[in-house]
Amino acid sequence: MGKVYDALRRAEEERGRQATGAAAPTVPTAPPEAEGAGRPGRRKGRRGAALTAPVPDEALDANRRRIALLDPESFVTEQFRTLRARIEALAAQRPIRTILVTSALAGEGKSTAALNLALVTAMELDRKVLLVECDLRRPEIHTSLGIAPRAGLAEVLLGEAPLEEAVHPVEGTRLHVLPVRKLPPNPSELLSSERMRKLAEELAHSYDTVIFDTPATLGLPDAKALSELMDGVVMVVRADSTPREDLEAALDILDRRRILGLVFNGAEVDVERYEYRD
Ligand SMILES: Nc1ncnc2c1ncn2[C@@H]1O[C@H](COP(=O)(O)OP(=O)(O)OP(=O)(O)O)[C@@H](O)[C@H]1O
Ligand SMILES: [Mg+2]
Repeated sequence: MGKVYDALRRAEEERGRQATGAAAPTVPTAPPEAEGAGRPGRRKGRRGAALTAPVPDEALDANRRRIALLDPESFVTEQFRTLRARIEALAAQRPIRTILVTSALAGEGKSTAALNLALVTAMELDRKVLLVECDLRRPEIHTSLGIAPRAGLAEVLLGEAPLEEAVHPVEGTRLHVLPVRKLPPNPSELLSSERMRKLAEELAHSYDTVIFDTPATLGLPDAKALSELMDGVVMVVRADSTPREDLEAALDILDRRRILGLVFNGAEVDVERYEYRD
C-alpha cells in the first residue's frame, strides 16, 4: 500500500482507537469479476442516456450486489457489519444520519457497498433506513433489488411525483429505496439544487439512516455537491487498481474530515471461501 492508503489507514485507526478501540473499518471484499465483464468500457465512459432507467433484467449481476440479503453469514457481510459498527461508534460523538457512498472512479463498487451497508443497517440494527439512488446517469441499485420504479428521484425533485409514490420498501427488511426512473438531461444541476438540499433534510428527519449512492467523484460535480449535505462519507477504493493519485484527488475534492471509513473493495481474501453466491 502506498502513502495515501497508509495515511488513511493510520487516521482511521487513530480515530477508531479514540472512539471505541475498534479496528479500522476497512471492508476487504472478494475480488470483482474480470475487468469490464458484462459492462464493457466501464472506465472509459458511460452509455448514452435513455429515457428511463432499465427495469430489472440483470439478475446475475443483481445477486452479486445484494450479498447481505442473500448470504448474511458471509465474510463480506461481516465486513459491512464492521463498517457499520465503526460508523455507530462515530455516531456516539456526533449525529450521523446521512451517509454518502462514493469512490474516485467508475465501477469501483459504490453501489454494491451502498446497498450492503444499507442492508446491514436495516437488518442488524433494526433501523428505518432509506437508500437513495443518486446516480441519475446510470442507476443500478433498483435493478439489484428487483424494483421496477413507478417514479424516482428526478420526478420527486422536479415536483412531478410525491415522495411516497417513489419510495419502495424492500420486503422482509426495514430498508426502503428511493430509486431512479427518469434520467433527466441535467443531473448535476438537479443534485446540486435547493430542492435536493431540502429533500435530504426531509429524509434525515423521516429515517434513522439515509444512505446516498453516487457516481464517481472525479469528473462529475455530483458527489462533491451531495457530500456537502451529508453527515459523513464512505469512500470505496478498489484495492488492486484505484490509482493513488486518483484517490488523493478525490479526497482533495471531498472534505477529508467527512470520511467515516474506507471500503477496500477487492482486497486479498480467500476467493474460494468468500466469493459471491449467485
Ligand atoms: N466485491 C465484489 N466482488 C465481486 N464483484 C463485485 C464486487 N464489488 C463490485 N462488484 C461488481 O463490480 C461491478 C461494479 O460494481 P458497482 O456497480 O457496485 O460499482 P459502482 O462503483 O457503483 O459503478 P458505477 O461507477 O458505474 O456506479 C458490478 O458488476 C458488481 O457486481
Ligand atoms: Mg454505481
